[in-house]
Amino acid sequence: MNIINNKYNDLSNYSEDFIRAKPYPHIILDNFLDEGFFSNLDLENFNKVSSKGLTFDTDLEKNKWTSKNDKLSNNLKLIVDKLNSYDFINNLYQLSKIEKLFSTTEGNTELANYHEMYNSGFLGTHVDHSSEPKTGSPHVLNIILYLTKNWVKEWGGETILANHNGTVIKKKIEYKSNRALIFLHSPFTFHGVTKIKDNLKKRSTIYVDYYSKSLNPYNHLNLDFKNVWFKHPTTFILPNFKDYFLKKNSKYLKKMIKHKIKTFLA
Ligand SMILES: [Fe+2]
Repeated sequence: MNIINNKYNDLSNYSEDFIRAKPYPHIILDNFLDEGFFSNLDLENFNKVSSKGLTFDTDLEKNKWTSKNDKLSNNLKLIVDKLNSYDFINNLYQLSKIEKLFSTTEGNTELANYHEMYNSGFLGTHVDHSSEPKTGSPHVLNIILYLTKNWVKEWGGETILANHNGTVIKKKIEYKSNRALIFLHSPFTFHGVTKIKDNLKKRSTIYVDYYSKSLNPYNHLNLDFKNVWFKHPTTFILPNFKDYFLKKNSKYLKKMIKHKIKTFLA
């Protein structure tokens, strides 16, 4: 059974486009899952907010649910296992030329592989966790797969790619059914999700992250920002600077300051 579209068996064909893309390396792959596999996906089994998992409802992560510590449905597990397979990781090397790539065994426990957003949900601009939970190795790539069928463009939910400090949106990637987005992860690859309309459809995504055993994983890339890696937690950028000084946002302020200091020292 094919899970990924055969067209994407050799991602080296897309390497130049990936590496040259702005504001930082990324590639959009439409019809990513095999057509037959995708059309048979039973979204009803997981396309709902479960009582388990982890729900977010803050100023920066609104109406979002992730599968952390919940059991993935069989269909989802097949996809996630494929994205974690040796073959696919080798294919990602062909795409990105990032050496010593690996995926984490901490998926869906420390990290969630399935995300849902609903009723005006959005995700503020941020960089993810910098390191693999067990080994501390650099987090270097993400894949996000858009799963909801018959999504209408006007409902929003685009993935945004921002500039090096997360203050300017540089690109919006439309949420399209069965589209995959692969992008570089570094301390400066800020990204987020635009607000979705208040409708009954949930914006479902699969998310898998990748790491490198190299501490200089971006050396071969000509980036618009420092091509260094350092340790940081998930760090959000608040849309209005004055909001950092609200008491409820003190945790965001601390993380932002730490990120700025590490950027300066890097
Ligand atoms: Fe993220």
